[in-house]
Amino acid sequence: MKRPIIAIDGPSGAGKGTVARTISEKLGYRHIDTGAMYRAVGWKANLERIALDDEPAVAELAARARIVVEGGVVSIDGHDITRAIRSPEIDRAAAAVARLPRVRQILVQRQRKEAEAGGVVMEGRDIGTVVFPDADLKIYLDASPEERARRRAVDPAHSGRTAGHAAVAEAIDARDWSDTTRTASPLTLASDAVRIDTTGLSIQEVVDRVMKIVTERL
Ligand code: DC
Repeated sequence: MKRPIIAIDGPSGAGKGTVARTISEKLGYRHIDTGAMYRAVGWKANLERIALDDEPAVAELAARARIVVEGGVVSIDGHDITRAIRSPEIDRAAAAVARLPRVRQILVQRQRKEAEAGGVVMEGRDIGTVVFPDADLKIYLDASPEERARRRAVDPAHSGRTAGHAAVAEAIDARDWSDTTRTASPLTLASDAVRIDTTGLSIQEVVDRVMKIVTERL
């Protein structure tokens, strides 16, 4: 029997990364961060000075790039970009390339292939709606925009060294707007997803809630 696929979706700063990683460790599943794939494409497009709205060129890049997201390490064509992709510049680049339908098509295909065998916790924006509409369990993590900006501002991996709270809040707003209003697979709550509002909850509390749902449903 195929092992389960757990989809975790939600906006930036809702805690998806930490929660998905912790849950996958507890279950002995693989953790696949699909946002890192869009970040990798945005990073490489910048490196090659390709305009982020040049859909044929970015899609061609995505099609030929070898992107590996495994065990917390992200690489593209053999370059370790784990740290380089966590910057305000790449936040913007990733959101821009994620708007391009042909790029999404290529990455979605790879995501499906990677998770073929199951035993996976996959996090992103469209996992429960597009990548795996038949996922065994769909979790949608949310939090108020203020709380998400607060979390990002104190997370050096995301805020950049000089970003103040106002700058982070503004960047989060811009990304929310881009992620929810784009035509191609916008971020939405799947009808059969369990939504958890993590505002005011610790990571441990969120993990406990998700694990309870996993135990009940799988
Ligand atoms: O989760 P993240 O912040 O690393 O994602 C980076 C960008 O990629 C963000 O703008 C949302 C987008 N994304 C997406 O459109 N679909 C996914 N499955 C994952 C991320």
